[in-house]
Amino acid sequence: MKSDDNHNEITRYEGEFARWFDADAGFAFWKGRVALYAILKAMGLGPGDEVIVPGYTCVMDVNPIKYLGARPVYVDIEPDTFNINTDLLWDSITSKTRVIIAQHTYGYPCDMDAIAEIARKNDISVIEDCCLAFGSKYRGKTVGTFGKAAYFSFQWNKPYTTGLGGIAITSDAELSDRIKSLRAGEMCPPSKKEVIMLGAQLLVYRLLVYPRTTALAQNVFRYLTKRGAVVGSSSTAEFEPVKADDFFKGLSTLQARSGLRQLSRVEKNIAHRRKMARLYDQLLQQKGWHGRKYDSDLMDPVLVRYPVRIVEKDKALAGAAKAGIELGSWFECPLHPSETPLSSYGYEAGMCPEAERASREAVNLPLHPRANERTVRRSVDFISRFMEV
Ligand SMILES: Cc1ncc(COP(=O)(O)O)c(C=O)c1O
Repeated sequence: MKSDDNHNEITRYEGEFARWFDADAGFAFWKGRVALYAILKAMGLGPGDEVIVPGYTCVMDVNPIKYLGARPVYVDIEPDTFNINTDLLWDSITSKTRVIIAQHTYGYPCDMDAIAEIARKNDISVIEDCCLAFGSKYRGKTVGTFGKAAYFSFQWNKPYTTGLGGIAITSDAELSDRIKSLRAGEMCPPSKKEVIMLGAQLLVYRLLVYPRTTALAQNVFRYLTKRGAVVGSSSTAEFEPVKADDFFKGLSTLQARSGLRQLSRVEKNIAHRRKMARLYDQLLQQKGWHGRKYDSDLMDPVLVRYPVRIVEKDKALAGAAKAGIELGSWFECPLHPSETPLSSYGYEAGMCPEAERASREAVNLPLHPRANERTVRRSVDFISRFMEV
């Protein structure tokens, strides 16, 4: 295929993705974190500025803020949806606050009424982190369409995966123009080696990674990532807020092609997630669990994984790996993963007690297209032994 055609596939993916959300423009990148960086940099964020994030996130989400010299301000979460607690948000606003990142955790929409009001009254921009939320609705409107911009990730655990990948969408013409010039001036393409490795990994993933083999696959993958034998979603160097020279990277055609295929099936993916979440609701309640707590008049979540709180989390994780149960654990500390040197990111123990409790208690169960009814039943049988009812 000629390089023009390749370029067109990336452009087509960006366009089709943006259209799905009725947004004016989409900008694809190597990873979701790069999309956030592009948005923040295009907004002119820099030293002296503050960005509000939930204290229950991935450190890769905080790195772009630090790379630009701005300060992340952590706000605790509310326990039912794991999203930023908007009662606490008011007190965190200062004259330096430029941005609130509304991270729709696990797919539960944030309290967008309150966030929009706080943002409007204080002239602050909202950026939606939709990396874990594709198709969720708040007051009937799809998340990703509320803020100045939104960004998505297509890493392995996300609503759909292209191995790695990220997209920023916006309908703000000025921001769009700025992201365009930023890309023209600074963005580098992924190397051939990275694309070949990613292609091979995607193939292995499609052939071999099923709920029963996930724990084993993850261990092998982490081992190979440390030895540089695969393109990992995060390198050890990224656990410090220092930007690598090749961080600002674009999407490859391989990812765009995979993304186009999956976008064409995304309604089916969403319907499957809804159906499996209902099955979890039903089976867990049969085991005596109180059920999920969220305002169903206000929100209609499409979950990326089904979160539950348990006791003896370490024991459950070890048992699940042995039993071939795909039990996820994020966020393992307020700035996932647990290797993160929290002090380098201005997080001090006790800043967000609810988030810290969630890190100790929450695990998540699979909902992806390969998790079928049998997976759900096995997962519930396993996890119900660890749940407080
Ligand atoms: C909530 C959230 N936002 C952003 C990211 C970053 O996405 P990516 O890994 O594609 O850079 C992650 C991590 O995977 C995440 O969990």
